[in-house]
Amino acid sequence: MAIDPYLAAAAALCLLLHLLLRGFLRRSTSRLPLPPGPRGFPIIGALPLVGAKAHANLARLAKRYGPIMFLRLGSHGCVVASNADAARAFLKTHDAQFANRPDPLSARDVSYQRQDLVMADYNPTWKLLRKVCSLHMLGGKAFAGWAAVRRDEFGRMIRSMHGLATKGEPVVLSDVLVCALANILGMVLESNKFKNIVLDMLTGGAQFNIGDFFPSIAWMDLQGIQAKMRSVHVRFDAMLTKLLQEHEAPDFIDKLMENRVTEDGQTITDVNIKALISQDLFTAGTDTSAVTVEWAMAEMLRNPAILKRAQAEADAVVGRDRLLEESDLPKLAYLQAVCKEALRLHPSTPLSLPHFSYEECEVDNYRIPSNSRLLVNIWAIGRDPKVWADPLVFDPDRFVAGGEEPIHPLRSWEKDLLREADGHDFLMEKRSSTWRRSTG
Ligand code: HEM
Repeated sequence: MAIDPYLAAAAALCLLLHLLLRGFLRRSTSRLPLPPGPRGFPIIGALPLVGAKAHANLARLAKRYGPIMFLRLGSHGCVVASNADAARAFLKTHDAQFANRPDPLSARDVSYQRQDLVMADYNPTWKLLRKVCSLHMLGGKAFAGWAAVRRDEFGRMIRSMHGLATKGEPVVLSDVLVCALANILGMVLESNKFKNIVLDMLTGGAQFNIGDFFPSIAWMDLQGIQAKMRSVHVRFDAMLTKLLQEHEAPDFIDKLMENRVTEDGQTITDVNIKALISQDLFTAGTDTSAVTVEWAMAEMLRNPAILKRAQAEADAVVGRDRLLEESDLPKLAYLQAVCKEALRLHPSTPLSLPHFSYEECEVDNYRIPSNSRLLVNIWAIGRDPKVWADPLVFDPDRFVAGGEEPIHPLRSWEKDLLREADGHDFLMEKRSSTWRRSTG
């Protein structure tokens, strides 16, 4: 077959232009500076500066180096966004660029090699899992459909707390909350068995693992994190296998099974289902909410005036003859403000979940090298004195309409950030098609 010489010339010209343009863009980005940041030490980089309380130490460093900071952690580059504008630049303006996740060793086993929703890259399986979760569990209509399950379970929780209180026994709030949340998510288990697994998973997963920053020595597992996560995975996997076999229809697992294959041939496997249930729903959905409620309770006990006001509001709206219903929530403005203030001051995921960019890019006139992690310091954003008056004071009035506004009224991104834990307008629906944040 003869090739049209004009077509061949046009194709060659396009290729040449593409290469020239790409070379030019690469050169122009590589001329930009890296964001400021500590130089760190040879080989280990800034790892010792991050330490165990990473969110607080990174916030301290950001005071010196600014809201967009670049650190070398071992052999990896890491960019940290520490105020709302910086977070918006990465998660909104450059959302597609940072829509992926790194591949932390601690998450490999429990996420079944990242075949879940939380740790997966932004790929077709992620989109399918997100769609199914949104349609059948977390989106507005589906969420409303599971209301009876939540009512039953919280009723059971209140009765058990009341029973303990009547016997004069202490109520361990975190235990009853995690148990109720886990049951709501569909599993009826002894609370401690489940709670310990979730706690092991969260404490192992949240630690800075040296092996992640020095892949060549990862096999030594110096902190024992990989071994701990593998054992968590084995225990959880056994429970999930049983759950998949014994679950009672109709439930969310059936919905997942029914929607395994889409019209374009995309498939959800058994492994995807297990990963979604263990790593995402049970882990991301239980301890996060339980910790937030614990903080809200602790702050109210520390501030009796706030507790009294929340109780007075509940008495006025609900009364003392029945349990609070979800339909009461829109009328409980002060209680909502208490929850938002707990999320602001004590976010249960202070550094959010790490994002990742495979390619070099430009953000706010800085060069972000390829294969960089992105950490968003939610903890620092909630305490930014340029946005919040007296940021360390627990003051729900900031969120009550007509009350004291933060120095700058809340912008939509910050509102989104505080909204997730409400559970109602959950992560799935609020996102643009490309933005994989859960914070809206
Ligand atoms: C107080 C409660 C909660 C907090 C503070 C919280 C916080 C977060 C944060 C910070 C992220 C990462 C966002 C990002 O990638 O930038 C996230 C992701 C996620 N959360 Fe939550 N969460 C809470 C409750 C829940 C619940 C109840 C569920 C499910 C039952 C859940 C499921 C997820 C999932 C599936 C993702 C991954 C989304 C994705 O990668 O696209 N979370 N959450």
